[in-house]
Amino acid sequence: MRLTDLPASLRRFVTEVTTWVETERDESELLPRVGESMRMLVAKDDWLDPAFAKPHPQYYQQYLLYADPDDRFSVVSFVWGPGQHTPIHDHTVWGVIGMLRGAELAQNYEIAADGTPIPLSEEIELLPGDVEFVSPTIGDVHRVRNALDDRASISIHTYGANIGKVKRHVFAPQGGAPKEFVSGYANVDR
Ligand code: FE2
Repeated sequence: MRLTDLPASLRRFVTEVTTWVETERDESELLPRVGESMRMLVAKDDWLDPAFAKPHPQYYQQYLLYADPDDRFSVVSFVWGPGQHTPIHDHTVWGVIGMLRGAELAQNYEIAADGTPIPLSEEIELLPGDVEFVSPTIGDVHRVRNALDDRASISIHTYGANIGKVKRHVFAPQGGAPKEFVSGYANVDR
């Protein structure tokens, strides 16, 4: 997963995000920069290695495309099989999501004092080229699903840490104490 081995558009994205994390200390400055780079990355669907675009019959897949050597950020492909969805979860770090192929539906939540997730507005539909943001400052809890029931959808995510190693949380729809989880990656041994 050396920089030189990456496809050109992903290499450009990684190079840009490396610059942004080095120069933009303030998240409100950093996220628009990363968002612009992401918009360019997902503007064309011609670069993702088919090995990182493979759905699993049962589980949505997270393939690590690049991890910053200092764990300042990571880039992941999310591959949704028909009908697959995440639980309600948080990230604990900033995240930028770019839709590459197919369509996905994201429902944002806030967590009530008793732990119950309360939906915020309507589900948001992401179509190829669309970019979305999450972070503990702007809203960090959501549930995401494939909008299509007959084929795979793929989005590219970048996070402000090596997300596969981060301890974060899943929230039960009926509330209660959140459960800690570490997502790992489909293509990296723990
Ligand atoms: Fe998420």
